[in-house]
Amino acid sequence: MKELMRVGLCLGAGVLLGAAGVNLMEEKEPLPAEKTAPPAAVNEIARGRYLVQVGGCNDCHTPGFMQAPGQVPEHEWMTGVPLGWRGPWGTTYASNLRKRVHEMSEDEWVALLRVRKDMPPMPWYSVNSLAEPDARALYRYLHHLGNKGEHVPAYVPPGQEPTTPYLSMDVQFAGAGAAVKELRMEQPSP
Ligand code: HEC
Repeated sequence: MKELMRVGLCLGAGVLLGAAGVNLMEEKEPLPAEKTAPPAAVNEIARGRYLVQVGGCNDCHTPGFMQAPGQVPEHEWMTGVPLGWRGPWGTTYASNLRKRVHEMSEDEWVALLRVRKDMPPMPWYSVNSLAEPDARALYRYLHHLGNKGEHVPAYVPPGQEPTTPYLSMDVQFAGAGAAVKELRMEQPSP
């Protein structure tokens, strides 16, 4: 299935590259279904970078950032972290957003940030409130960084054992049980 998907995606990329004349100068491997970003103004890129910094996106989406804040070089930023966040919702992984922006148009990205309500610990409530120009600046900055790294592992539903290392996010106080139910982060209802 994975192989099939890869073949399909490569075919898609061929068509896109042929039609759109994608710029291959950036740091990139051959790409699945790459979407081109409109040329970004320098100040939009700077704004996107600023938003990533103040929004704390690197904490979860950049390998090693939480352990050594500010010390991870920018070319590694936002490449996704394969360490799971395991809780009552299952196990989630902070996506490789540099890959993700190459798979969607800027408008699709803006819509995703506006409406998506997804699983912990992703701070969707904050991201849903981004003003549209800021969502666009984020897209352009991530595009500007270039497509790098691999996709993170797929979401693992509750009750299934992840095959990767993970952090446990459930309430750990022995005997607390129902008394702390309100502290548990559940999977949001759709
Ligand atoms: C506390 C950790 C954490 C922080 C901070 C965080 N994220 Fe996330 N993010 C996640 C996790 C975990 C997921 C995967 C959620 C899922 O699988 O449902 C995710 C998913 C996403 C997705 C969905 C990508 C996809 O594959 O469709 C977007 C977009 C996103 N984050 C943007 C951001 C932005 C922008 C910021 C900064 C403003 C940010 N995140 C900060 C943990 C975090």
